[in-house]
This record gives sequence, C-alpha cells and structure tokens, in this order.
Amino acid sequence: MDLNLKGKVAIVTGAGGGGIGTSVSYELAREGAHVVANDIDRSWADRVAKQVNSQGSKAIATYADVTSLKECAAMVDKAVADFGRVDILVTIPAYMGAGSFAHSSLDDLHRVVDVTFWGTLNAIKAALKPMLAQRSGSIVCMGSDSARMAPPGESMYAASKSAIMTFTTCLAKELGSSSVRINVVNAALVSTPGSAGLAGGYSHNYPLGRFPDSDEVAEAIAFLASDRAAMITGQSLSVNSGRL
Ligand SMILES: NC(=O)c1ccc[n+]([C@@H]2O[C@H](COP(=O)([O-])OP(=O)(O)OC[C@H]3O[C@@H](n4cnc5c(N)ncnc54)[C@H](O)[C@@H]3O)[C@@H](O)[C@H]2O)c1
Repeated sequence: MDLNLKGKVAIVTGAGGGGIGTSVSYELAREGAHVVANDIDRSWADRVAKQVNSQGSKAIATYADVTSLKECAAMVDKAVADFGRVDILVTIPAYMGAGSFAHSSLDDLHRVVDVTFWGTLNAIKAALKPMLAQRSGSIVCMGSDSARMAPPGESMYAASKSAIMTFTTCLAKELGSSSVRINVVNAALVSTPGSAGLAGGYSHNYPLGRFPDSDEVAEAIAFLASDRAAMITGQSLSVNSGRL
C-alpha cells in the first residue's frame, strides 16, 4: 500500500539504537516523509539522519532528551524551522529499570516513569503546538504488551505503558475536533539488537511461530501515522504474532 507520505514531516523521538525507532525512521523515509531523527545518543541520531538523506528523503538530526519538555520544544522548533511543519510524531524511548519494584531504588523507579511516560508526554505536548496550529497531525506512541500481560519485574514499566494507552484514549477525544489523531502500537517481544539472544526460547508462545522484527512493527506505525488511517484514533494495536 502506498502510504503517500511524500512531503510529510515526521519526528521520531528515539530514532537510534538499531531497533524499532531506526526501522520507523527508514520506513517513513521510504514512504516519502522528511524525518527528524531525534536521539539522546548523538552519534545514532546523526547516523540515522545520514542514512535517510542517502535514501533520497531529507532528514535532520536532533538530540533532545525526552525527559525535558524544554529540549522537546527545541526539537520541534528545529523541525518547524527546517521543514515548516510537523505532520507526524512517533514516540519511542522507554526505560525498563532494574526490574524488582521492592529492590529498586526510588531514583531508578522514577527514571522508568520519566523516560517511558513523561518522555512520551513531553514530545506530544511540544508537537501539539504546530499540529494544533495546522489543524492536522498524527501521533503514534510506542507501547508494550507488558501493559496487558503485567509480567513480574516490570511493574513500573508496564504501569507506564498502561498509562500511555489510557492517556491516548482520552487525548484522542480532546484532539478530534482539531483533526489531530493519536494511537498506540504495542509489541511483546521484537527482534532488535537488544533482544536477539531471546529469539529461540520464546517463539513457542507466538501463534504465528515467531515474534515480529522491528521492520514489521514499523510498518504498522507508518500505516497509523499516515492518512490511510484517517478514521483511526484513540486505539491501541498490538503487533505481536497473536500472542494473548
Ligand atoms: N524491543 C522489544 O522487544 C520491545 C517490545 C515491546 C515494546 N518495545 C518498545 O519499543 C520501544 C523501542 O524499543 P527498542 O528496544 O527498539 O529501542 P531502545 O529501547 O534501545 O531505545 C531506542 C532509542 O531511544 C533512545 N533514548 C533512550 N532514552 C532517551 C531519552 N531520554 N531521550 C531521547 N532518546 C532516548 C536510545 O538512545 C535509543 O537509541 C520502547 O518504547 C519499548 O518499550 C520494545
């Protein structure tokens, strides 16, 4: 399906790492969008922007730490200065923390919420400025099936991802009259550089026989970001090989 993203301007907040954010950046560029490749890791942001530029779409790198609303606002300002508008925002970064709620430090627990939940909200709050002025925009938040599966050792992470889903449902209703859409894409395990070693051990839990790779998650994100999904807002979609 041609998603018709030619000329659209997309910000990806965690474009590096070689995982889902990197795949999303390349997928949006392949579909014709200009990409603002944001990552706290400057070398990754630069690398993704360079790759997109070599593919024929335009890209710039930005380096906002999404835990800072001020830095997110600067990221959006840079996008508007260079490209004139913001059509798409994809929020990626999350932090899982040390695991055990009982044994984690308060600082580590706060960090999970700061990156995963507030990092998502800060980027959205900043991007809404141009989107509301344009009266158009599409936001896709990266969620996790952990919100529904509630695995042990992921309480803060799962609660943050769960909060993102509820937030999305509410915000979609608030933004509908401004023609700004917001949806969530969840995943269970995804083949990324970080999860490569887990592939064999878990595939029996996945009805389609394997878990998705990051390109397959990126395709769902690109669809929801595009006008092909014009009547979809406030929804959470799991790309998880049917794992319940
Ligand atoms: N990998 C999986 O199996 C899986 C499964 C379900 C959900 N997810 C979700 O997908 C998303 C991406 O996961 P991933 O494993 O592909 O990538 P990742 O967790 O490695 O992070 C992607 C990028 O975000 C950047 N980042 C981290 N903190 C940041 C900050 N404060 N500000 C700006 N950038 C920051 C990192 O530098 C990295 O390049 C996360 O939201 C994660 O919860 C992943």
